[in-house]
Parts: sequence; structure tokens; C-alpha cells
Amino acid sequence: MSIVKINVLTVPDDQRETLEKRFAARAGTVESSDGFEWFELLRPTEGTDTYLVYTRWRTEEDFQNWMSGRGQAAHSGGGSADADRPKPAATDSTLWSFEVVQQAGPPQS
Ligand code: HEM
Repeated sequence: MSIVKINVLTVPDDQRETLEKRFAARAGTVESSDGFEWFELLRPTEGTDTYLVYTRWRTEEDFQNWMSGRGQAAHSGGGSADADRPKPAATDSTLWSFEVVQQAGPPQS
């Protein structure tokens, strides 16, 4: 079964729009990465003030390959000088790792 990697981002209220805009302009490297299965940016509505970057992968190795390769590029501003990088919208981040034990979806019609 697949594995899930969630990046938990602490985002001050006044930085939410900035964060979402940055994701709207994200590099799009995950979609074409080997073993990539799903991505969602989850905005909190109740119970927490952290955004979740949900990603699902075929194997741990697929995720590590993305992180050390194109994922790094996706976080470095596409090669332009790091000095040009805007201040991060998130004030903190934590990586959560899971294995999918069970899953279900609606019946396929
Ligand atoms: C220091 C920790 C991290 C911070 C603050 C952070 C923040 C961000 C931000 C602001 C973006 C939007 C694009 C940009 O402006 O760079 C982004 C893209 C992304 N991040 Fe992170 N990130 C971090 C680490 C991670 C980790 C560990 C994962 C693993 C789940 C992850 C998954 C993603 C994905 C899937 C994208 C979209 C990339 C694409 O479309 O190519 N991030 N991240």
C-alpha cells in the first residue's frame, strides 16, 4: 500500500493569502514524478490553524527521490538567486509520515 507524507505548516492569519498564492503558482513538479499518487493543499476551517500539504506516494523511495531532486527545486524558486526569495509565509513546519492501512472510495459508475 501507499505511503502518505504531510507537511504541517504554521501560517499566521495575515499570511494565509500569501501562502495560497504561492501554492497556486507552485512549480508542479509532483504531478510528473515517478510514484506520485496525490497532492492536496488543505486550508484549516476548524480545530487547528495549521495548513496541511498532503501528498501520497507509491513508496518511501519515490518520495525521497522527489524530495532530493525536483522537490528541492520546487522549493528553491526555480533556480533564481535565493536572495530574491520572498520571506516564507509559514513560520514553522513539521513532516508527518504514514502508511496507508485501509482505503475506500465511492463505487465506480
Ligand atoms: C521547511 C519546510 C517547508 C516549507 C516552509 C514549505 C513551503 C512550501 C511552499 C510555500 C510551497 C509553494 C511553492 C513555493 O513557493 O516554494 C511549497 C510547495 C510544495 N511543497 Fe513544501 N514546504 C516545505 C517542505 C515540504 C515537505 C517536507 C513536503 C513533503 C510533503 C512538501 C510538499 C510540497 C509540495 C508537494 C509542493 C508543490 C510542489 C510542486 O508542485 O512542484 N514541502 N512548499
